[in-house]
Amino acid sequence: MTSSHHRPITLTVDIGGQGIKGRTFRDPGAPVSARIRVKTPRPARHGPVLDALVGLIEKLRPFDRVTIGFPGVVVGGVVQSAPNLDGRWKGVPLQERVSERIGAPVRIINDADMQGFGAIEGRGVEMIITFGTGMGAAMFVDGRLFPNLELGHHPFEKGKTYEERLGQAALDTIGKAQWNRRLVRAVSLLQRIFNFDTLYIGGGNARCIKTKLPDNVVIVKNEIALSGGVRLWQPPSS
Ligand code: BGC
Repeated sequence: MTSSHHRPITLTVDIGGQGIKGRTFRDPGAPVSARIRVKTPRPARHGPVLDALVGLIEKLRPFDRVTIGFPGVVVGGVVQSAPNLDGRWKGVPLQERVSERIGAPVRIINDADMQGFGAIEGRGVEMIITFGTGMGAAMFVDGRLFPNLELGHHPFEKGKTYEERLGQAALDTIGKAQWNRRLVRAVSLLQRIFNFDTLYIGGGNARCIKTKLPDNVVIVKNEIALSGGVRLWQPPSS
């Protein structure tokens, strides 16, 4: 049935610390299905997460191909790290495992990289940072991704990393007002380091932003995380 469509249907899945979300699209701006969410199994070891992932994917047929955004470093479809999940993930060939189980082509990339594809215009230096359980970051030059940036684990201030200062645990501890002040300092530091043309801020906790940010900083809706997964299959524009 799916092959009779003119344009293929892409299912994109976003694995988060709290939930696994999925939706099908014909184009980045044209969803086919509703967005479906299941809870991330806890402890989030690779076996139960794979089963939850496959369960969600099966609910979203029909589709022709699948993109998965993963909350850690992914190289060539193989997981290298998963700081906010549990157990041993390094070396898990998740792309191949999912593809075998569902019988469709799968591409898996870092979650912030996927979200970035949903946000960018494709011109100049564009950066995205995402706030959820962890802090994600991705960088693009004229639409080309620099993969697995992992800025969240770099030192920010007071001997702590960006993720330690601005991740979910920090927000829960310090509250929104102080978190917003930290965010302003982080944005200003990132501007000085990367000289981006535009910085996008996404992830579930972007909704906690109540502060004024510079004009080249854009808060994006969480939904773009999923639409970004469609772009991965589109040829780069010339
Ligand atoms: C991980 C990143 C991920 C981010 C958001 C960080 O802890 O190291 O790979 O993009 O969390 O999920």
